[in-house]
Amino acid sequence: MEIIEKAPAKINLGIDALYQREDGYYELEMVMASVDLSDHITVFDFSEPKIKLKTNLSFLPLDSKNLVYKAAKLLMKRFTISTGVSIEIDKRIPVAAGLAGGSSDCAATLRALNKLWKLNLTLEELAEIGAEIGSDVPYCIYGNTAFVSGRGEIVEKITNIKPFWTVLVKPPKNMPTLSVFQALKLDDISHPDIHALRKAINEQNFKQMFKNMGNVLESVTIERIPEIQKIKNTMLSLGAKAALMSGSGPTVFGICENQVQAKRVFNGIKGFNSEVYLVRLLTRKE
Ligand code: C5P
Repeated sequence: MEIIEKAPAKINLGIDALYQREDGYYELEMVMASVDLSDHITVFDFSEPKIKLKTNLSFLPLDSKNLVYKAAKLLMKRFTISTGVSIEIDKRIPVAAGLAGGSSDCAATLRALNKLWKLNLTLEELAEIGAEIGSDVPYCIYGNTAFVSGRGEIVEKITNIKPFWTVLVKPPKNMPTLSVFQALKLDDISHPDIHALRKAINEQNFKQMFKNMGNVLESVTIERIPEIQKIKNTMLSLGAKAALMSGSGPTVFGICENQVQAKRVFNGIKGFNSEVYLVRLLTRKE
């Protein structure tokens, strides 16, 4: 049997860090949203009792450094699975970009193996297992728009978002999340009001949503990659309603009111940047 799961990229409409906890992690408040740029994870039984990874990107690790490998290993151990598994990762999301590509692949692997091995775990149970692997994995188990808090393990869904057209720009540099959090100084920076952001989306007051979008990590990454500020300014001057860095960066996204506006932003920015994507926010079907 073969199972295919989509692993969508995420963007942060808002991130605030409240304080550093005793375990070293930051207590966070975030609004996360999925977009229709996805990796594909395919899992199927393998004749030998091991985890075999395959991917279209030659520089990705295929061992325990890969979150997909960690997901399979953890499930195998916890549920004493003795059969092997082959996992193919078809990468389309830029790597180390602030789009949670690795965490989303990990979450998609957990969902896929839950089906392949008939474990009958709920999404809540998969999210708990995912939290052992990475802070963004619980959110990625559910996807779509959510208010996320704690270290990343408390996920509450938000239903009222519109499928906004969005332009993503990935500057050529990569940014390790750890180094951005390490350089964060909470007293020196302005904090976005994530509760106001959540309220605005719930009330479908998108003018207020654009106004309250903010990322506490942005200034840290912009200091290292000033190009981020330039991309934001260009997006806004081309007509985007809001432009922000996603996660710890360096990807910048611009949210637009409609497709015509998004195409103008996309075309205007494409000449200066090689990695530009035109996407839409995912919305729940129910
Ligand atoms: O949990 P994960 O390994 O994905 O997090 C990557 C890094 O981001 C951690 O090593 C930590 O430095 C930082 N982080 C944090 N507080 C969080 C989430 C992540 O400090 N809530």
